[in-house]
Amino acid sequence: MKFFVFGTSRFTFLCGIKCGAAFALLFVCLTTPVFASEAVELQAGDCGKCHRFQLQMIAEAGGRHATEIGCLDCHPQHPPKGTETQVDCTLCHEGQAHFEIGDCLHCHVNPHRPLETLRDPLKPARKECLSCHSDVGQEMAVAPSRHSELFCNRCHNTHKEIPGCLDCHGPHLGEQFARDCLRCHSAHQPLQVIAAGYVPASFCRVCHARQASNLADTNTNHGGINCTYCHKGVHPSTSACQECHGLPHPQAIHSEHTDCLECHGDAHRLISHR
Ligand code: HEC
Ligand code: HEC
Ligand code: HEC
Ligand code: HEC
Ligand code: HEC
Ligand code: HEC
Ligand code: HEC
Ligand code: HEC
Ligand code: HEC
Ligand code: HEC
Ligand code: HEC
Ligand code: HEC
Repeated sequence: MKFFVFGTSRFTFLCGIKCGAAFALLFVCLTTPVFASEAVELQAGDCGKCHRFQLQMIAEAGGRHATEIGCLDCHPQHPPKGTETQVDCTLCHEGQAHFEIGDCLHCHVNPHRPLETLRDPLKPARKECLSCHSDVGQEMAVAPSRHSELFCNRCHNTHKEIPGCLDCHGPHLGEQFARDCLRCHSAHQPLQVIAAGYVPASFCRVCHARQASNLADTNTNHGGINCTYCHKGVHPSTSACQECHGLPHPQAIHSEHTDCLECHGDAHRLISHR
């Protein structure tokens, strides 16, 4: 009897429980003498006779697994006699960091359609992500913060999704929206504060009330200047008076008084009688 080749407990189980499916299988087995003789090797063309579902799936969505390899490349042997029923993904995928992270099927759930069923990792991921986004790892290493200690998918729940800072933090100021955070912070180096572009004085005032109110009160020309015009680059940084004014007075005065503020008081509340 040909189907005795399948005389495993599993087949008996199938017979008992899934009669319909089993009879179909039985029918195929009887009409398809692939296992009839031990001498006959399974051919690539045979697989679809019993595994129509897998064949169809791979044809429809297998991508390059459908076009560049066949069933036997991944399933060199067949049960119950064969034990090497599937090979490791890394047999063919090697030479890139991404192929060294293991647990391929955690994300590529179904090897017969490896990209269609690509799923976001259900467990915390970091080295998995860095296998492709190594630049992000470098950014974080250069300017470490507590964000560097978080798993990537704590913020990027689904691949390519960008979170908003306000999902997890409150703003410094009621009038700030999510897009404002990135005017000063960057996501992967949040302690590297660099005010870029136009930043309203109120955004600085929330932490530097004295300087801001002085500047608002002064009737000198400094009053019309934005904070970030004098405080450029990585916070906190300050341009020296000379960077904009040079040494405007006679050399004798500057030699005697090296600090401009001796006479001009305060950058934000200048003493000036011009
Ligand atoms: C005559 C029907 C038939 C043909 C033809 C057939 N299979 Fe199977 N295949 C089965 C049955 C039945 C099982 C379940 C056997 C078991 O679990 O012991 C199975 C199981 C498998 C499994 C699962 C193995 C495991 O470890 O659980 C793979 C993979 C597989 N077949 C691949 C193939 C490939 C590739 C081909 C073509 C080269 C093929 N089969 C041809 C009937 C067939
Ligand atoms: C027998 C060789 C072989 C095995 C084993 C293999 N692959 Fe592939 N895979 C290929 C080839 C060939 C390509 C197309 C060229 C390339 O991208 O390297 C490919 C492409 C892919 C692609 C891109 C698909 C596309 O349409 O562009 C993914 C994703 C993939 N494989 C995942 C896997 C996973 C996950 C496993 C393990 C379950 C695996 N592969 C096992 C040979 C293999
Ligand atoms: C890129 C390698 C690869 C190719 C090509 C491939 N398979 Fe598979 N197949 C696997 C892996 C890996 C598993 C195990 C999946 C798992 O453990 O979830 C599997 C599982 C199976 C199973 C067990 C049931 C299931 O779906 O999990 C069958 C049957 C099967 N494959 C048949 C086929 C047939 C038929 C073909 C050709 C049309 C084929 N496979 C092509 C890698 C492959
Ligand atoms: C943490 C999830 C995750 C794991 C684990 C994972 N991958 Fe991927 N893989 C991805 C993502 C995401 C992409 C697709 C990126 C894109 O959109 O192009 C991908 C793409 C691929 C590609 C296509 C690459 C290309 O350049 O087209 C291959 C091949 C691949 N993975 C193989 C593997 C192998 C082999 C393993 C196991 C060693 C594996 N993957 C483990 C997430 C994962
Ligand atoms: C196999 C390589 C691969 C893996 C693994 C991978 N990605 Fe990606 N990722 C890509 C590619 C390719 C893109 C698209 C890049 C583009 O559009 O310029 C992308 C895009 C992104 C984007 C959006 C980029 C943008 O410019 O909008 C984010 C965010 C992202 N990935 C985060 C992650 C996280 C988090 C993980 C881990 C859970 C991860 N990626 C795993 C390859 C990968
Ligand atoms: C605290 C939340 C957070 C964490 C943790 C985080 N990201 Fe991001 N990521 C973001 C935000 C927000 C953006 C958008 C930044 C922007 O638009 O300037 C982003 C942008 C990206 C981008 C696209 C733009 C770019 O900078 O390359 C990639 C890729 C990315 N993240 C990958 C990762 C990876 C990989 C990890 C883990 C090592 C990670 N992220 C950890 C919040 C986070
Ligand atoms: C998924 C939640 C999440 C998102 C989204 C997020 N953060 Fe964080 N952030 C954290 C956690 C957790 C910490 C650690 C400190 C804590 O527990 O509050 C942190 C810490 C910080 C710190 C202090 C870092 C340190 O090392 O002390 C800054 C600054 C910061 N975040 C800014 C931002 C900015 C700006 C964004 C948007 C680009 C953002 N965060 C998006 C969760 C998040
Ligand atoms: C004008 C620039 C600026 C803007 C805009 C800005 N921040 Fe900040 N943020 C800073 C500075 C400066 C620090 C303090 C860094 C330090 O302590 O050295 C800081 C610290 C933080 C911290 C860590 C300390 C704390 O208060 O918990 C978090 C979290 C944070 N910002 C979140 C945000 C969020 C969310 C937004 C957007 C609503 C935002 N920031 C907008 C400049 C800014
Ligand atoms: C979230 C609060 C916060 C915001 C917003 C903030 N700062 Fe600061 N700033 C600080 C803290 C805290 C310090 C002192 C600690 C340090 O030196 O890092 C500081 C220090 C400074 C200093 C140097 C002070 C000294 O004694 O040398 C300057 C200049 C400065 N900030 C300018 C600005 C400007 C300009 C803005 C707006 C673009 C701004 N800050 C926004 C918190 C903030
Ligand atoms: C015209 C240039 C200029 C403008 C505009 C300016 N600052 Fe300053 N700021 C300076 C200089 C110069 C110093 C250093 C004074 C010193 O050497 O003691 C300074 C010092 C500071 C300090 C350090 C503490 C102190 O008072 O010395 C803080 C904080 C500060 N500025 C915040 C701000 C904020 C907030 C704004 C906008 C509301 C602002 N500055 C606008 C030039 C400016
Ligand atoms: C980033 C450039 C910048 C820096 C730094 C700067 N100033 Fe000015 N300052 C200006 C500009 C612009 C004006 C307005 C144009 C003018 O009057 O020349 C001005 C005007 C002045 C005036 C005349 C103001 C009036 O209206 O009477 C004095 C005095 C002065 N600055 C002194 C200083 C002193 C002292 C410092 C250092 C504490 C300083 N400035 C730092 C750019 C700067
Ligand atoms: C000994 C006192 C003293 C010192 C020190 C001093 N200044 Fe003055 N500065 C004055 C006086 C007085 C004026 C002219 C009257 C006025 O505008 O108040 C003046 C005027 C200015 C003006 C306006 C010039 C114009 O043409 O209208 C600038 C700009 C200025 N000073 C910058 C500086 C800078 C920068 C330094 C430091 C390198 C500095 N001053 C150091 C006393 C001083």
